[in-house]
Amino acid sequence: MVDLRTDVGALAFRNPLLLASGIWGESGQSLIGAYEAGAGAVVSKSIGAEPRPGYPNPTVEQYSDWGFLNAMGLPNPGIEAYPEEIRRARAGGVPIIGSIFAPTSQGFAELARAMEPTGVCAIELNLSCPHARGLGSEIGSDPAMVTEVTRTVKAATRLPVWAKLTPNVADPAALAVAAEVGGADAITAINTVRGLAIDPVLRRPVLAHGLGGLSGPAIKPIGLACVWLMYEQVRIPIVGVGGIRTARDVIDYTLAGARAVQVGTAVATDSISVFGRITSELERELAALGVERLTDLVGTAHHPPGAP
Ligand SMILES: Cc1cc2nc3c(=O)[nH]c(=O)nc-3n(C[C@H](O)[C@H](O)[C@H](O)COP(=O)(O)O)c2cc1C
Repeated sequence: MVDLRTDVGALAFRNPLLLASGIWGESGQSLIGAYEAGAGAVVSKSIGAEPRPGYPNPTVEQYSDWGFLNAMGLPNPGIEAYPEEIRRARAGGVPIIGSIFAPTSQGFAELARAMEPTGVCAIELNLSCPHARGLGSEIGSDPAMVTEVTRTVKAATRLPVWAKLTPNVADPAALAVAAEVGGADAITAINTVRGLAIDPVLRRPVLAHGLGGLSGPAIKPIGLACVWLMYEQVRIPIVGVGGIRTARDVIDYTLAGARAVQVGTAVATDSISVFGRITSELERELAALGVERLTDLVGTAHHPPGAP
């Protein structure tokens, strides 16, 4: 039997497959559903200080077989209403990483403080949503801001802090270094890749917001490259995200340096049973490779056997 258990810093997970933020994690019941379907842990939907309706429809476009283009505009019920959902899922025994977004470092710190009593096991800073004005990657593209937000949140909470970073910059690894300097306990990489779909009949962008974020299989090589580059520059653990749909994808991210991964779009395209399917595939494929523990593989593509 292959050992799929892993850890991200001080946090231990029964397997490396975490539910990514925003795809399925709206209600406490859906978070429980993801855990029962086999996820190692779940990341809740990004929550801000106030309720936000998000952008008008259309907000999501299935972009051929390669993934989704979305510009949801961070719709969420706000921090006052949401902890109830987290408590419900915690009562079901689900390990939850609470995702938050804010326009300032103080705003992030206040949300982290409000999240702490709900029982989440870590905070994920959404520094990377590519389509929300004054939020997400608009602040998370600046390494100095990444350091400041991380440092301010670390001073406000005892929980581990994960910085979720954008690939939409020239040097994503510099953002990982900036988060590490700010005291982050882990990096999550990546959020969606900026993209556009156009309707030729209407002669305008398909999404109401115009630009959106691409997710799904198309972005796997981009996520993989980010994890690879970050692994060479930071010591803190990396959680890989982007286009993961099969055991092979998990193995590739692990070899590039990820200690855990998150699955987003594949939950929407393949159903929540994707966690159980990937877990069984992973056990079979690792056994065929003669690997006893998944964590033995972390980052090993950087040091091929026999290389000087
Ligand atoms: C419809 C949709 C909503 C998302 N909402 C969030 C969100 O609220 N917070 C966040 O950090 N990431 C959000 N993401 C990004 C995902 O968590 C993930 O980083 C990205 O989709 C890449 O992974 P994937 O290819 O497995 O989907 C969203 C993605 C999609 C497709």
